[in-house]
Amino acid sequence: MAEYESLRGKHVLLIVSGGIAAYKTPELVRRLRERGASVRCVLTRGGSQFVTPLALQAVSEDKVYTDLWSLTDESEMGHIQLSRQADVLLVAPATANILARMAQGLAEDLASTVLLATDKPVLVAPAMNVRMYQHPATQANLAVLRQRGVTLVGPNEGPMACGEYGPGRMSEPMELVAALAAHFDGQTAPPLPVSAARPLAGRHALVTSGPTHEPIDPVRYIANRSSGKQGHAVAAALAALGARVTLVSGPVALPDPAGCRVLRVETAREMLAACTSALPADILVAAAAVADWRVAVEAGHKLKKDGDRPPALALTENPDILATLSRPGPARPALVVGFAAETRDVVAYATAKRARKGCDWIIANDVAPGSGTFGGDHNHVHLIRADREPETWPRLPKAEVAQRLAAAIAQHFAARESDRP
Ligand code: C5P
Repeated sequence: MAEYESLRGKHVLLIVSGGIAAYKTPELVRRLRERGASVRCVLTRGGSQFVTPLALQAVSEDKVYTDLWSLTDESEMGHIQLSRQADVLLVAPATANILARMAQGLAEDLASTVLLATDKPVLVAPAMNVRMYQHPATQANLAVLRQRGVTLVGPNEGPMACGEYGPGRMSEPMELVAALAAHFDGQTAPPLPVSAARPLAGRHALVTSGPTHEPIDPVRYIANRSSGKQGHAVAAALAALGARVTLVSGPVALPDPAGCRVLRVETAREMLAACTSALPADILVAAAAVADWRVAVEAGHKLKKDGDRPPALALTENPDILATLSRPGPARPALVVGFAAETRDVVAYATAKRARKGCDWIIANDVAPGSGTFGGDHNHVHLIRADREPETWPRLPKAEVAQRLAAAIAQHFAARESDRP
């Protein structure tokens, strides 16, 4: 399997704590192993209420570790050894409880002891009731963990097992696979030269680009006409001004822009997971044309043409990456820039969209039929900022639009620096 190639040969230590989402972990183990990773599981006592050691043992084809005090485990495989032999630790699901214990540095059972003893990178996939997730204690714990270098993946927003709705659902197995692959891709990306003369040196910019492909069955998908040219040009322009750039790209036929770390994804949900795993960032530019809908249930086999009627495709809404990452909170990039493709009343619609999505700036582009924007090399845009009058730029090559935007971003940060006492 060519996608997520960076997982091949990697050792993942999966720590499963006690949330209902634990039932998805055997699927996660399978998806990782299909891509050449080996997975060893540690199960908390709570976790074993939702998924059995036997199920994880069967899919991982390895012993499942549950007990800190088991002499066999300690002689065969101490807690230090468990993390030493892993390339990465993933806590999924990560309950409010295990996040609190991690933030406090408690070592009460095998899972928390391994997490305290490890010097390996740690990713966590929070999963809990929406109120528990939004509680200031959990948010403070997440902020501490993030500061210590722990990577957060998710949570997703949606209906929850407890009957409520909101953020708190664990990322889906394939989103976790994408996040782990992004982690390893990042490790192999070449370090960027940092020059003090370049105004965005020391800043991390996250850029989304291209379309997303939403599978219908193993051979068909829903897509759009985005070429990725504008998003890729923005990534290149930010890198040229010295920013460290992570470009999260849907399927495009473009070369990787120089000096950027590129994470390739297919679906909107993978794009969100890759973006979240790349945080923290100072700047987000969301230029991707993300599919608004996906097929509610992807068919496991190619849909057949037999029967009189064509199949009915039920659609469900995709996460809004821009709106999600614009939400106030410790992880929000300091400057969030969205794009708005409009066919009429471009400035008015885009101004309303900026407020609705919660981003700071929006680049509104005219995609009326005949404008040649989709797939073309030119763009006609307006820059809309919360605190200023809209600016209309002339019709320009996409590379030049990107350079102007990167320059405006650099100016914004320079002004903030000079405001400091
Ligand atoms: O709502 P609309 O698609 O017009 O908004 C466009 C902006 O929102 C773009 O910046 C696009 O990258 C972003 N977007 C997103 N996730 C979605 C839909 C749009 O990030 N699901």
